[in-house]
Amino acid sequence: MRIAVYPGSFDPVTLGHLDIIERSCKLFDKVIVAVMINSSKRPMFSVDERVALLREATKNLPNVSVDCHEGLLIDYLKKADAKILVKGLRAISDFESEFQMASVNQKLCPEVETVFIMTRTEYMYLSSSIVKEVGTLGGDITNFVTENVRVAIEQKVGGKS
Ligand code: PNS
Repeated sequence: MRIAVYPGSFDPVTLGHLDIIERSCKLFDKVIVAVMINSSKRPMFSVDERVALLREATKNLPNVSVDCHEGLLIDYLKKADAKILVKGLRAISDFESEFQMASVNQKLCPEVETVFIMTRTEYMYLSSSIVKEVGTLGGDITNFVTENVRVAIEQKVGGKS
């Protein structure tokens, strides 16, 4: 059984993330999307909200599950008995930090292999931060996120939750 973990902040999940998830679930038997908790960041969405938005957006993908973890990513992979770490790779700007993380993770746990999936060109520019910025400033984010995420951002911006 090939179990892959796709980690990230997912604050919130974008169409770029979903593209990586959909493509991963064709490659692996099981894909666990892991919302990583970083207490030094101030996210727009709580961990529970991020998990719920991801579950809603991936509900039609039978071999995808969503979980969360605080601490080392490698510890989560050991807990999940996963040997594959999936990362999406956008433009050159992602390369340096991803190379660093993959190298550190390789040292921490050589049995785990990081697999990079290149983003589709239409999502090259997309990030959760830019979506939050455009959404907060009242721009149209329908091309960047699923409907449930668009509504959730609007509610945050409108101060409804
Ligand atoms: O969506 P992001 O914010 O780019 O995801 C980054 C993330 C959460 C995957 C990365 O920060 C991470 O792996 N955090 C866990 C902490 C860890 O294991 N650090 C040491 C190895 S890099």
